[in-house]
Amino acid sequence: MSATPEIITVTLNPAIDRTVTIANFAAGTVNRVEQVQDHPGGKGVNVAVTLADAGHTVAATGFLGRENATSFEDLFARKGIADQFIRIAGRTRVGIKIIDPVQQQTTDINFPGPAPAPPDLDTLRARLTASPAPWVVLAGSLPTGVAPTLYRDLIGTLKAQGRNVVLDTSGEPLAAALAAAPRIIKPNIHELEALMGRPLPHRGAVIASAQELLAAGIGLVVISMGSAGALFVTSREAVRAVPPQVVARSTVGAGDAMVAGIVAAQARGYSLEATARLATAFAVDAISRVGAGLGDPATLADLGRHVAVSAVTSALR
Ligand SMILES: Nc1ncnc2c1ncn2[C@@H]1O[C@H](COP(=O)(O)OP(=O)(O)OP(=O)(O)O)[C@@H](O)[C@H]1O
Ligand SMILES: [Mg+2]
Repeated sequence: MSATPEIITVTLNPAIDRTVTIANFAAGTVNRVEQVQDHPGGKGVNVAVTLADAGHTVAATGFLGRENATSFEDLFARKGIADQFIRIAGRTRVGIKIIDPVQQQTTDINFPGPAPAPPDLDTLRARLTASPAPWVVLAGSLPTGVAPTLYRDLIGTLKAQGRNVVLDTSGEPLAAALAAAPRIIKPNIHELEALMGRPLPHRGAVIASAQELLAAGIGLVVISMGSAGALFVTSREAVRAVPPQVVARSTVGAGDAMVAGIVAAQARGYSLEATARLATAFAVDAISRVGAGLGDPATLADLGRHVAVSAVTSALR
């Protein structure tokens, strides 16, 4: 398989997104399925796929339910991603999305996921510390029954090994992880407001929050704001990246593609401006196409040229 991975992504709570098409879906009756499609997903899995498409050597770990791992295994084989997932008892959670093209409505049915046992968590720690990848991406929610401090503890261990840790999560796991100061975080504006415990109504307030996080030892804070773009803030500079107007075909995974772009750019040693441009191009590419993965290099380069990156000067803060 591939050479030593540059990046390992961690997905502790993956999901299979199952899209079911049923015309005139109705509760309490018999419904006939016209079409069904399974997409193995989860934030770290999406990040790994995008990075692999961008030409990086990637490994993926986390927990997969032993009983329904095939769709993930097929995906990793197709993308050349080293499969380092730990198989645990049970089934990976499935999210069923019933699409009714006639009534134009969708219905979601979400299953709970399996809970990893204490020995599974030990295996995860061992696998991560043994991985030679200099970049580690921790992404998504934690499975049921796991302490909210898990990310914090993993970051502490990985940082002591000199690894670069990127964290994309929300709520309590994010708040707890700040104490361990990951190298990069990418909250969206709502996640940042929840973290700070106050509304952030203008750019100055957002940058001030980012500076508080940088003071705690984080190296780069990226705040994404949907179609309004994103702010990239370090202790020395801040830039704003505004995406070109595109037809949004699927906004699912825009944040994951942006995380992949940030990691790719930083692993290549790009400047903050070039990082903002690449990350935004990846994100816009994700929303302008249905399905995971990255478009061709020419499309990406073209998108990158249409991203407006500007320095946020102290006067604008
Ligand atoms: N409608 C849109 N048009 C153009 N670009 C968009 C749009 N939505 C998102 N983006 C791009 O994707 C980036 C990330 O989007 P967003 O802030 O929605 O992430 P997120 O909330 O973390 O998403 P996710 O649900 O994938 O975690 C934005 O900074 C922007 O560059
Ligand atoms: Mg997100």
